[in-house]
Amino acid sequence: MQDRLSQLRLAASAALLSMLLAACGGDPELSAPPIDTDPYTSTDAQEEPTETLQAALADFGSCMSIEVWVKSGIYKLYKAEDLQNTQCQACHSDNTGGAALSEDVVWAFKKNQVLPSVMRLVTGTVDDRGNFKTLVPSNRYIDKGIDPCLPGESCHPKYSLPAVMQRSVATFVEESLNRWKSDNCHAPYVPSED
Ligand code: HEC
Repeated sequence: MQDRLSQLRLAASAALLSMLLAACGGDPELSAPPIDTDPYTSTDAQEEPTETLQAALADFGSCMSIEVWVKSGIYKLYKAEDLQNTQCQACHSDNTGGAALSEDVVWAFKKNQVLPSVMRLVTGTVDDRGNFKTLVPSNRYIDKGIDPCLPGESCHPKYSLPAVMQRSVATFVEESLNRWKSDNCHAPYVPSED
């Protein structure tokens, strides 16, 4: 019993001692410089200004060029067909599922500039702190047709975009991302020959 009491006293004075040390700044852990987690002052953040995904999407959308939309050929996506030979526009000319595909080229372009449709083209990545990093292709128009269908879900019609159409989608997104990154939104577009 006596032993147990003196152990408790010892523990209590040790705790008091470390509190005193900490209060005087003597604790080496407390006097070490704090890790900089402020997104506005850390070096990473200076290279990559913190920007929310939504702001980046809005910025990207307003940088999209209808000339690139037409010349890349992505505007023809509305007439791609699912495995039942139904064209995308049969369901998507009213922006169903937030995927705007229509023979009305200007309407489809404008809808794809903004949420939700813009996310069928691009999506955001985050850095190791979870802050928005940049935009990358989301490939939704290509991958939707081969997405697995989970039991109990209503399945999207299966489709496989022809290679030419896949290239049009990829080219449009790549060109638009380049323009957005280099702030070169309104440059004339000369499609590459390959
Ligand atoms: C028979 C109607 C129908 C047809 C045809 C159709 N879709 Fe859809 N699509 C839908 C519906 C309903 C949704 C919303 C539910 C969902 O996501 O499955 C959707 C959603 C989508 C989405 C957004 C959702 C996501 O997961 O990214 C994309 C992209 C898409 N469709 C692409 C296409 C393309 C490209 C075609 C033509 C090759 C096409 N769809 C043909 C009905 C259709």
